[in-house]
Amino acid sequence: MRTIIEPFRIKSVEPLRQTTPGEREEHLKAAGYNLFLIEARNILIDLLTDSGTSAMSTEQWAAMMRGDESYAGSESFFRLKRVVDSLTGFRHMIPTHQGRAAERILFTVMCKAGDIVPSNTHFDTTRANIEFTGARAVDLPIPEAADTQARLDFKGNMDVMALEALIAREGRARIPLVMLTITNNSGGGQPVSMANIEAVKRVCAANGIPLYLDACRFAENAWFIREREPGYGVCTPRQIAERMFSYADGCTFSAKKDAFANIGGFLCSNDDRVAQQETNLLILTEGFPTYGGLAGRDLDAIATGLEEVLDPDYLRYRIVSTGYLGRHIADHGVPIVEPPGGHAIYIDAARMLPHIPASQFPGQALAVELYRHAGIRSVEIGSLMFGAAARHELLRLAIPRRVYTQSHIDYVVEAILEVNEYKDKIRGLEIVEEPPFLRHFSARFRPL
Ligand code: F0G
Repeated sequence: MRTIIEPFRIKSVEPLRQTTPGEREEHLKAAGYNLFLIEARNILIDLLTDSGTSAMSTEQWAAMMRGDESYAGSESFFRLKRVVDSLTGFRHMIPTHQGRAAERILFTVMCKAGDIVPSNTHFDTTRANIEFTGARAVDLPIPEAADTQARLDFKGNMDVMALEALIAREGRARIPLVMLTITNNSGGGQPVSMANIEAVKRVCAANGIPLYLDACRFAENAWFIREREPGYGVCTPRQIAERMFSYADGCTFSAKKDAFANIGGFLCSNDDRVAQQETNLLILTEGFPTYGGLAGRDLDAIATGLEEVLDPDYLRYRIVSTGYLGRHIADHGVPIVEPPGGHAIYIDAARMLPHIPASQFPGQALAVELYRHAGIRSVEIGSLMFGAAARHELLRLAIPRRVYTQSHIDYVVEAILEVNEYKDKIRGLEIVEEPPFLRHFSARFRPL
């Protein structure tokens, strides 16, 4: 059969609430044209993020009932540890309440002022946590990734020559670790090839620098490798994932993505001394090492989700359905970051709305228009989120896992194509209230 179906049926449903155009205009005004400030009950289709928004499976809900809430040594912890050990092979794993908690602990232990942490592209919390220690976060994406229209198989790769040059210039002593974000979220949800992971590892090993994966979307990355990298078509996603982890010395992980959990994360390391220091910090802010800021039931949901996510039927459906949204809007003239990513489609708002300068936030203007027109929530990834460091003006449509059906996505396609028809009439925005940092969460705007 050619039709790829959602590989699940629906047992429990959550009603969606329609709003009128007049109501949406009021909500926009009240929220200062910032979609983070709109109550979720007033959103019809929520594509703000794929993080923590997954639908859990019957097995995950059953696992939650088995959750062992013992303060120390709970069975849930050991169930999660067994799953993580056999998937990643890392010596140490500590649970954290989400990905950024793992990042904070990792960088507090490994970084000091003046250090440099290179990555293919740091996610914003990763960058912020590195810079909070006084170290510098440096992005080294391959140069071709700058062109949103270039259709490369592994557009999330790191520029290995640039990494070697950076190490030669700054000295290995100033680089406590190298990171690879898989898939590369800020770079368009693009995958990193096994060959690139291997090449980065070779450079790291030659210089005695540990390699860490930001592994939030490791299963989606594994699927892209299976589909696109010569030699991997015969491997299971699990074999590919195991191999990806085998090149790394540790990882940070947000279980809110590729573990279908609504909360949680963990931090892994092969270094006994580093792991001991991490555990000490964990106790200070997250909790005892066998629960790390989570309930026992959360640990069980993550353990079950980590196994489910590697199901080939799920991953095929996941990547094909994200691509479905991308192709249906791109083939009708809406410029997206090509090729479609794993968890999200990114519209190139600068290209779509050339009459709106970056200083008037074309991505945000498009996000507002999409909500106004059809009740869809998306997120700007551009000058609003990154300020002067923004490389592109993008609008991200992130797809929650196992939540929306094809007709929901058809509705999103229709809405975007309708907005595209009158795009010349969309106006930019001016900031009227700005917090000192993380302004995309709470800035307020005035339409121009
Ligand atoms: N790393 C990457 C690549 C991420 O995408 C995220 C979160 C994190 C780390 C942090 O994990 O949220 O559990 O603390 N990304 C979400 C997003 C928020 O919308 O892309 P967290």
